[in-house]
Amino acid sequence: VNDTANTVRVASPTSNVALELAEIDWDNLGFGFMPTDYMYIMKCSQGENFSKGELQRFGNIELNPSAGVLNYGQGLFEGLKAYRKHDGNILLFRPEENAFRLRTGAERMCMPSPSVDQFVEAVKLTVLANERWIPPPGKGSLYIRPLLMGSGVVLGLAPTPEYTFLIYVSPVGNYFKEGLAPINLIVETEMHRATPGGTGGVKTIGNYAAVLKAQSAAKEKGFSDVLYLDSVHKRYLEEVSSCNVFVVKGNVISTPAIKGTILPGITRKSIIDVARSQGFQVQERFVTVDELLDADEVFCTGTAVVISPVGSITYLGKRVTYGSDGVGVVSQKLYSSLTSLQMGLAEDEMNWIVEL
Ligand code: COI
Repeated sequence: VNDTANTVRVASPTSNVALELAEIDWDNLGFGFMPTDYMYIMKCSQGENFSKGELQRFGNIELNPSAGVLNYGQGLFEGLKAYRKHDGNILLFRPEENAFRLRTGAERMCMPSPSVDQFVEAVKLTVLANERWIPPPGKGSLYIRPLLMGSGVVLGLAPTPEYTFLIYVSPVGNYFKEGLAPINLIVETEMHRATPGGTGGVKTIGNYAAVLKAQSAAKEKGFSDVLYLDSVHKRYLEEVSSCNVFVVKGNVISTPAIKGTILPGITRKSIIDVARSQGFQVQERFVTVDELLDADEVFCTGTAVVISPVGSITYLGKRVTYGSDGVGVVSQKLYSSLTSLQMGLAEDEMNWIVEL
């Protein structure tokens, strides 16, 4: 990599000429949308399978005002990231896991979905077409956002007659404005993210709209985000608006079990395996809100969030803090292990990396 005043040149895996990166401020990426060059689109009718998609110039899409996704929320999304390695190669992290999760969600939302191969191929195509938007090593990643939506027309409540699978990408840095510094959460006691039998366990768009009110109120009070409790007992931890949660006590790391109301995060699943491989005991179980009181560390995981240490949690007006300054040892260790794998700096013993 060779930085000059305005352009950064990196080796390109798809051609032997140096690739000119997009001219943006690579040192100050946050988690915000930035338009790139291409998006991928594939359509199919209800009762049929997706067959052929294509890259198009990135831009607005047309939807009939009566489209199912706009009226009844028949839509799912995914999130994954591409990293640029020092040798110029591009890495994806477990993309087939996103494909499986999309397929599970599509089944719940009465939608057809691309096959795992179609999904992964489409992701690769979209990333390569937008190669110049992948941040230089250490500056961030290219966030990949697949969408599956009911784009057909319905007025009465029913699955729509047409579906669109779309992928767009945007270069991103840290999700929280705190960067990697610990975040401050508030436990929400009135509003819930999901209910048993509902759609909390799939990545449907409505799950995210449902948290906006509590999240906005929390942010107004100066908190980074909201930690939700289960809607039946109002006592067990569920997840944070955009990520899963882990509680550390000694050598034991506990996280709420997947039981239909919690998103089965791919980072969550990966951290469980990484932690176990490092000798931690990981428990997936009901975790009570009271356990936050004597935890050593708390951290959140997600594709966008990666691993975010929690500095404090406020519950019913009481604030519990973790660590006196900065990131806890366990959170830091797991963060380093995961990100070294994702960025191609560590041996991929788990076979999780797809190199383009
Ligand atoms: C992700 O982590 O990729 C997500 O989809 C969460 C989103 C709210 C940014």
